[in-house]
Amino acid sequence: MTENDRLRERIAAELAAARDRTTLLTTIVDEADLVRQHSPLMSPLVWDLAHVANQEELWLLREVGGRTPMHPEIDPLYDAFEHPRAKRPSLPLLQPDEARSYGHEVRGRVMDLLNRIDFNRIEGPEAPRQGGWGAGAPHAGGHRGVGPRGLAEFAFGMIAQHEQQHDETMLATHQLRVGAAVLSAPPPPPAPADAAALPAEVYVPGGPFTMGTSTEPWALDNERPAHVVDVPAFYLDTTPVTNAAYADFIADGGYDDPRWWTAEGWAHRQRAGLRAPLFWRWEGEWVRVSFGIANPIIPNEPVLHVCWYEADAYARWAGRRLPSEAEWEKAARYDPVSGRSRRYPWGEETPSPSLANLGQRHLAPAPAGSYPAGESPSGARQLIGDVWEWTSSDFLPYPGFVAWPYKEYSEVFFGPEYKVLRGGAFGVSPVACRGTFRNWDYPIRRQIFAGFRTARPAPERAS
Ligand SMILES: [Fe+2]
Repeated sequence: MTENDRLRERIAAELAAARDRTTLLTTIVDEADLVRQHSPLMSPLVWDLAHVANQEELWLLREVGGRTPMHPEIDPLYDAFEHPRAKRPSLPLLQPDEARSYGHEVRGRVMDLLNRIDFNRIEGPEAPRQGGWGAGAPHAGGHRGVGPRGLAEFAFGMIAQHEQQHDETMLATHQLRVGAAVLSAPPPPPAPADAAALPAEVYVPGGPFTMGTSTEPWALDNERPAHVVDVPAFYLDTTPVTNAAYADFIADGGYDDPRWWTAEGWAHRQRAGLRAPLFWRWEGEWVRVSFGIANPIIPNEPVLHVCWYEADAYARWAGRRLPSEAEWEKAARYDPVSGRSRRYPWGEETPSPSLANLGQRHLAPAPAGSYPAGESPSGARQLIGDVWEWTSSDFLPYPGFVAWPYKEYSEVFFGPEYKVLRGGAFGVSPVACRGTFRNWDYPIRRQIFAGFRTARPAPERAS
């Protein structure tokens, strides 16, 4: 099998896996639930369904394949920048059966294209999009040296990741949906025997490490380029903060004490009436509703559905702080023995069920201390998978950043209004999760599958 065949096979498998998940998430509810808006924060599921097909057509058929548009009149409906989520239900969207057949038609043509493509002999996209990757921009910095082959390979990877990211978004819509439970999955395995005896925190030595990547073929523009960052020594929680620890913060009056909150956080806490994580309710004990089913909170499960302000307040109450994004990545990737940064905390190997809780295999985070095989060199567990982890950092470009393949992917979001989340969650596909992957959201958002862990500075050890 040639390298070209192996790449085609991997792409075909990733596209198929994404479509299987999309199909499950959009056939398990009835048509009324597909077109309904379950929260103003989310699109109707039928919008996601046609949007993933439309992006696939735009990037693979038109950009890589040079094909003419199939239905140009629907492009504006599915442009995420033209219509905010709250407005999408009022658009003349494709009906569920139309959206499905559009997606099916696009995928059939994409598979024809993929079967004929020779990634070693690509001359480049034939129909460059305005301001896009083919517009003649010298792809310096983050994409220096990426030729047409890299461009086509990247486009397939970007589209597989894109559909999986919408599968995560659709899973969040399912969590917000009110009504009888429809989704189910086996619970994560119980905590390993050593979980209770783990140290509360791990030590990460000070010094430079390589953050970001210039070599990962499917890394997005905001993960690039690789660059050296000097991170002073610090301690990081071995595991994400648990429901039990978070319940202690609530019981100790954490939501009533402005000392723990930033001024904006306190204002938001009061305005929004925050009392506990989203989906928690008090029934003589804390109960959490998960995909339509209410159960008492599981004490050793990582806390989920807290906003950045809540995570930040908890950390201050605990006498600690949120880790910066660089600290998080150093704890996850830096190998003090080789001095190099790994792809994942455990090494170079692609995520598997023994390493991390990813891919919607379970619909909840695993107990704190799970996945010993996925431990980082620093000894931290569950950095990849389970819950997204809020960091203290604003979403900013790395030095040498180049927008690619279009400015709207990341560049328009850079700035202090978004906070970075790291590590992926149980709802995230392995294809859309790496040690370098960066997610971002507003500090008030709670519908994402986000938790956090805390950190504190450490004195440099004498060498
Ligand atoms: Fe999208």
